[in-house]
Amino acid sequence: MDLKSQIILDKLPRHIAIIMDGNGRWAKQHGKPRVFGHRNGVKAVRETAEAAAELGIEYLTLYAFSTENWKRPKLEVNALMTLLVETIQNEIDTLNKNNIKLHAIGDVAKLPSKSLKALQGGIESTKNNQRLTLILALNYSAKWEILEATRQLARQAKAGLIQPDAIDDQIFSNTLSTKGIPDPELLIRTSGETRISNFLLWQIAYSELYFTPTLWPDFQKEHLYQAIIDFQHRERRFGKISEQLV
Ligand code: FPP
Repeated sequence: MDLKSQIILDKLPRHIAIIMDGNGRWAKQHGKPRVFGHRNGVKAVRETAEAAAELGIEYLTLYAFSTENWKRPKLEVNALMTLLVETIQNEIDTLNKNNIKLHAIGDVAKLPSKSLKALQGGIESTKNNQRLTLILALNYSAKWEILEATRQLARQAKAGLIQPDAIDDQIFSNTLSTKGIPDPELLIRTSGETRISNFLLWQIAYSELYFTPTLWPDFQKEHLYQAIIDFQHRERRFGKISEQLV
């Protein structure tokens, strides 16, 4: 039986987050520069977004560039920024045809102005699409996001707009860059690494984690199906015991 038909459509995660890892090692295996891996990583982005949209997943968040990635060689950082601009420009029509809305989280104001413009253009041009929201985490780190939210709430408290004791889970969630987006039920990391690397730390409190040895440029629709099938066979207890889950 093919993998796709094993997916239980009324038990789909609403939100899948992915740490796309292994582009550099994939390039090395092919005897090519790291940038070649990132270029092929874009193909995997396309495959995954298409598969997610076809299945009816509502949100797909991809870790495309972390705040720590600026420490990479300048050539690689520049190549990633150029790739971002090119990819958004090349994919806008496909995104619109597939009714996919582009969104971003992270400190995007610090991106090079060309990248930021392309990103804003992509977001604006797809803003009315309704099938899948494709969220790019760009210049993102969870600690940055949590600190930003904390500063914002502290300023509101200082101004007397909010009582410190009134700050709860919901208010904090609504101060994060993922405001309005449900927490991911499933987090995937490729390339065999089993770290979270400063990604969505608040939002993955109850996420199921799925690690695969597949390097990101090799990630295809079937790999996403496999991760979802695995997810659907897990028991999510949220702190309760099995018998309490009806
Ligand atoms: C991790 O592999 C990958 C990245 C840091 C960049 C991810 C970017 C893309 C897939 C392409 C751009 C995406 C969009 C949406 C335009 P790595 O370089 O850390 O690989 P390694 O661990 O094998 O060195």
